[in-house]
Amino acid sequence: MKTIFVATVAIAGLCSAYPKAARDWKPSDLGDSRSPCPLLNALANHGYLPHGGRDLDRDTVLGALKEAVNIDRPLTDIFFQAALNMTVPLANATELSLHHLIQHNAIEHDASLSRPDAFFSSHQDVFDPAIFAETRSYWPDPVISVRQAAAARLGRLQTSNRTNPAFELNKTGALASVAETAIYLIAFGDVEAGTVRREYVEYLFEHERLPLELGWEKSKFVLTQAHLEAMSGRVVAETNSLLHGASVMDATADLQSPPAGDEL
Ligand code: HEM
Ligand SMILES: *[C@@H]1O[C@H](CO)[C@@H](O)[C@H](O)[C@H]1NC(C)=O
Ligand SMILES: *[C@@H]1O[C@H](CO)[C@@H](O)[C@H](O)[C@H]1NC(C)=O
Ligand SMILES: *[C@@H]1O[C@H](CO)[C@@H](O)[C@H](O)[C@H]1NC(C)=O
Ligand SMILES: *[C@@H]1O[C@H](CO)[C@@H](O)[C@H](O)[C@H]1NC(C)=O
Ligand SMILES: [Mg+2]
Repeated sequence: MKTIFVATVAIAGLCSAYPKAARDWKPSDLGDSRSPCPLLNALANHGYLPHGGRDLDRDTVLGALKEAVNIDRPLTDIFFQAALNMTVPLANATELSLHHLIQHNAIEHDASLSRPDAFFSSHQDVFDPAIFAETRSYWPDPVISVRQAAAARLGRLQTSNRTNPAFELNKTGALASVAETAIYLIAFGDVEAGTVRREYVEYLFEHERLPLELGWEKSKFVLTQAHLEAMSGRVVAETNSLLHGASVMDATADLQSPPAGDEL
């Protein structure tokens, strides 16, 4: 009897400590709140965030990203505070719903990897297979390099600049766009090598689901702002290298000083 009791308690303890992700994924229902962010949508689909996507407070969001992808709370807090301040139309808000993040030119910006520009659609939060096909066309190999990730972002930027008469991406938007490319590299790939398996990234975007079935595991070490800044720097450097000598259509041009020699 005692043994059974102990075993039951042990199993119950294990279950509650266990990530829900692998078991509990459910697509969004009509009426659920979702965002332009594939990761936050995936976390709501898995139940790391409430499935309805509404009334998310700081502890919930910071805890979900820590548990699901091992991103530390200070890094998530930067995005969370920015989202609260810029996208929730209430003074001193402490909670947000995923749909708030649709707010154009707050965090949401033009030239997304998988969503239409606000000029073309009021559904700038919704995954668009045709747009993602353009992004994927820069990823010919099973493993995406930093350079290929940068090329995809730059390609989308140039397409939007060419086709969207209302195209806008100021420095804030450009930095967000660079960070989004950097963060899929570090959250789903190899922080040092700057590589990520293409199928993991495609799975995240296309299904809004963590690529656990494909063998992905969350980082064994905590991912911090330092990792994000380092990878963002590599994305910017590859972007500038891709642009070198080309006609410049690039909002990232003023993200860093020109390569040494250019001003001589
Ligand atoms: C509290 C934390 C976060 C907030 C508030 C947030 C919010 C957003 C928003 C508003 C966008 C839309 C930008 C746009 O493309 O127009 C976005 C895009 C994106 N987010 Fe997040 N995000 C967060 C964390 C993360 C994390 C940890 C990842 C890790 C993989 C991630 C991955 C992405 C990617 C890849 C995009 C680009 C989507 C695209 O270009 O189509 N986000 N995020
Ligand atoms: C958001 O607003 C709070 C309270 O006013 C402030 O402390 C914080 O610095 C702001 N964060 C951002 C990213 O604007
Ligand atoms: C928001 O916070 C500020 C600073 O603490 C305060 O002065 C203001 O009254 C608050 N606004 C509302 C609507 O609570
Ligand atoms: C970019 O535009 C947004 C929205 O208009 C604004 O909040 C932000 O301050 C701008 N950033 C810069 C660097 O101009
Ligand atoms: C769009 O392209 C034009 C022409 O090359 C360029 O001057 C401009 O800086 C680009 N805009 C952005 C936001 O990159
Ligand atoms: Mg966008």
